[in-house]
Amino acid sequence: MSVALVTGASRGIGRAIARRLASDGFDLFLVARDEAHLSEVVSEVKSTGRRAVASGVDLALTDAPERIHSGFVTVFDHLDVLVNNAGVAISREFGEYEAGDWDAVMNVNARSPFFLTQLLLPLLRQASPGFIVNIASVVAKKGYELQSLYAASKHALLGFTKSLAREMVNEDIRVHAILPGGVNTEMVTGVRPDIDTSGLIGPEEVAEVVANLLKMRGNAVIDEVEIRRRAKTPWA
Ligand SMILES: NC(=O)c1ccc[n+]([C@@H]2O[C@H](COP(=O)([O-])OP(=O)(O)OC[C@H]3O[C@@H](n4cnc5c(N)ncnc54)[C@H](OP(=O)(O)O)[C@@H]3O)[C@@H](O)[C@H]2O)c1
Repeated sequence: MSVALVTGASRGIGRAIARRLASDGFDLFLVARDEAHLSEVVSEVKSTGRRAVASGVDLALTDAPERIHSGFVTVFDHLDVLVNNAGVAISREFGEYEAGDWDAVMNVNARSPFFLTQLLLPLLRQASPGFIVNIASVVAKKGYELQSLYAASKHALLGFTKSLAREMVNEDIRVHAILPGGVNTEMVTGVRPDIDTSGLIGPEEVAEVVANLLKMRGNAVIDEVEIRRRAKTPWA
């Protein structure tokens, strides 16, 4: 049976991905800090008949990748899909950021995915094929006011994704970046409480894109998927 590890699975996009992959037949290893919410997701996955294990780890900690890896290998002996989804956003003027903000955002959005992927690569090499799906953002290619730190972290995640994809080109590992626009989750409503949520992308719509990428096992590979809100200007 196929196994997927999803970070940031306690809510939002990660939770939707976990639900979707469970319904597509994956067993799941689910990472986030909020163990109460994680255990709800574990129950949801188990109700589909799949296996689910929760791992309460803070990805801002520098030893988070090692903690996740050691927890994973105690329960699963193979891994087919790694979804680096967990992320945090801080919104403030450039001059107001402090070093602690840098560590908090960069550790979760860039450092942990980088080293978690490095640690799990030997297992993914045994899969046929192995998938790495990094949830970046439209902010990985653009800059927006008040988002200099979040943008730096997502540019870092996308840069790592591009280089890794090239290194894996002769291996049976597919490396994808997904770049969504505004998705209806607590991340957006927290930063923009005024936003009209009716036009935002649904988390389950992002999960559907992930699920479809995982079904592509032939000679066609989609490196990145940009997902825009329907009302936004195409190709902007
Ligand atoms: N929402 C959007 O508009 C949007 C657009 C483009 C890209 N994205 C990206 O999509 C991903 C998911 O975002 P979302 O919108 O679903 O956000 P969300 O609803 O705020 O969920 C974030 C997830 O990341 C986890 N997380 C945050 N900090 C963590 C930490 N220190 N350690 C472990 N887990 C942590 C959270 O779990 P705990 O709080 O339980 O730890 C939660 O499960 C992020 O990478 C985000 O940058 C979002």
